[in-house]
Amino acid sequence: MARIPRETVDRILDTVRIEEVVGEFVNLKKSGSSLKGLSPFTQEKTPSFYVSPSKQIFKCFSSGKGGSAVTFLMEHEQFTYPEALRWLAKKYNIEVQEEEVTTEQQQQNTERESLQRVNEFAAGQFAEWLWDHPKGQAIGLAYFRERGFTDATLKTFQLGFSLEDRDALYQSAVSKGYQSEFLEKTGLCLQRENGSWADRFFGRVMFPILSQSGRVLGFGGRILRSDAKAAKYVNSPESELYSKSKTLYGLYQARQSIVRENKCLLVEGYTDVLRLHQSGITHAVSSSGTALTVDQIRLIRRYTDQVTVLYDGDAAGIRASFRGIDLLLEQGLKVRVLLFPDGEDPDSFARALAPEALRTYLQSHETDFIRFKAEVLAKDAAEDPIKRALLAKDLISSVARVQDLLLRDVYLRECATVLGMDERVLNQELQLTLTRLANESQRSAAADQQRAGLTVVRPNDPAPAGPGQDPYAYPGEEPPLDGATALQIGAAGQPLAVESDLMRTLLNHSAEPVAWTDDEGQTQSSPVAALILEDLNNDQLTFEHPVYQRMFVAFSEAWSAGSVLSGAHFVRSEDPEVVRAATDLMTETHTLANWKLRDVFVAEKEVYLASFVHQAVLRFKTVHLERLVLKATDALEHTDVPEERDHLMRQIMTYSALRNRINTELNRVV
Ligand code: CTP
Ligand code: MN
Repeated sequence: MARIPRETVDRILDTVRIEEVVGEFVNLKKSGSSLKGLSPFTQEKTPSFYVSPSKQIFKCFSSGKGGSAVTFLMEHEQFTYPEALRWLAKKYNIEVQEEEVTTEQQQQNTERESLQRVNEFAAGQFAEWLWDHPKGQAIGLAYFRERGFTDATLKTFQLGFSLEDRDALYQSAVSKGYQSEFLEKTGLCLQRENGSWADRFFGRVMFPILSQSGRVLGFGGRILRSDAKAAKYVNSPESELYSKSKTLYGLYQARQSIVRENKCLLVEGYTDVLRLHQSGITHAVSSSGTALTVDQIRLIRRYTDQVTVLYDGDAAGIRASFRGIDLLLEQGLKVRVLLFPDGEDPDSFARALAPEALRTYLQSHETDFIRFKAEVLAKDAAEDPIKRALLAKDLISSVARVQDLLLRDVYLRECATVLGMDERVLNQELQLTLTRLANESQRSAAADQQRAGLTVVRPNDPAPAGPGQDPYAYPGEEPPLDGATALQIGAAGQPLAVESDLMRTLLNHSAEPVAWTDDEGQTQSSPVAALILEDLNNDQLTFEHPVYQRMFVAFSEAWSAGSVLSGAHFVRSEDPEVVRAATDLMTETHTLANWKLRDVFVAEKEVYLASFVHQAVLRFKTVHLERLVLKATDALEHTDVPEERDHLMRQIMTYSALRNRINTELNRVV
């Protein structure tokens, strides 16, 4: 893959707004000076995912992840660094010079990437055949037009047509250099017993199934002859790339509307999504004809907590779907249902109605799910007391999945009314069900853990050897406010608290002026960076933590060249470890800004900052000296060579004396 020139990278990074990028995947709401939403990395129910537009970083307190718009895409979409940049360039219409891909570099691409590329080629080929090939026009395009789909709809959903020749796609792909290995792994092509190749899809109209970021994961292909014995739809098989249960058809096209409407409509089929979209209802997705899965629900929850399930008029599937809806409730979603008139599905119904009338109909005909379920079941049970009791159990089981306590209470009362039963009796049943569900979920969580062979560290557990447990921590050290803020920088291990303090001060305050008194008693003012960098470099001190050390070197080099770096510089780094460390330090809740300076007048801030910086440097030094003393003491125990012992003892004395002097000074300034 070609390297993206530095100027282009800079232009991309200058243009990108992290809130816009993250906003495509997460429903963000204003919260003070930042934006807040549900973490896309965990299944949390209360938002602890923050985006700071001023710092251009995100921080997820439930997973500990944090970084820039680029690292967000790398984490969320599993992109490589250049892929993330290209995605951003595309979003912001910035031209990136693409160079030819060499074979060696091609091999370095991950398999996933190769599968996506093959799929994207196929989607393009199918679309080309639909629009430009005489057969595609005569058969595929004619079919779509006859069903009343506009060109705009076909383009929005990137629909296509697979030619009837049994290996048209295979031939076309191979002639363009795509490897049969990947054609097979995506399921686009199959190898016959005799070694020849065949396409999975032929003579069908093609529906590409996209990821939420628009990559092609797989396909659905609809047959055109209605009399055929063949299946109406053929779909891509499960692969490393495509998993039916983890995908929602139309989510890519719907996600922004879902956020805007704060609601997701759930329909059965591909064509329902297309039709609603064409009628201006753009927040609909389809679970592709299967029962809803927890993974699909989690996809929805990234964008909204309200779902309306649209049912075909034939009521057969309704009861069967109740279980899936309980799952929606369990995941904390607010669920409504909408039943179309008999014999109508969203596609046929929407086709017959003007967009305005459709919107009004949808708005006025949706019912709360529990109420709906109560009514459906109550009709069944009518006069039969035993059925009624069973129905009560069934309903209460749904009510028990509702996460919101108040809402649950409202439902309980409603059920009592619909069923004509005593609320207290129903409440007893509810409490029993809740206990049973709690036990079940505990058991299955334990089983999950066992299967995964790990124990789960909850955010409130003490962080493993975080800054709070640092044996060298300065006694006055604030413990971290919660486990999630403890730095986790991979194998490099936990940084020392004094190192974090100093690096945090550099990142957040490097350019701020601080007042200090020189040898002649004159008050001087210098940027924070000057005080820290010069002091440390004079004593030839380095950071133990490798990532901090890299940042320290960058700070120092820039300073000798006359410029002051800041946190923003490191957030843009190409080194993901640096981005991560910088973000963590810039988002920790006990930053200086929140902690000491909150109510201090600006004029006094300089003085406070000066004293804080001074302390932080001194503490850094004492801890490092202490460690040098320990190291020397340790070495002393392992050598009998007199000269070495002599040297080590002198070292110990020097370091200890220095440490004591600094400690005295620290006590003076605190
Ligand atoms: N489906 C499938 N395989 C089948 C039949 C259906 O995968 N053999 C899935 C498809 O995702 C389809 C959905 O189930 O979109 C709903 O099925 P259906 O209502 O039969 O299809 P529609 O999408 O409504 O297609 P059409 O309107 O063209 O009949
Ligand atoms: Mn249908």
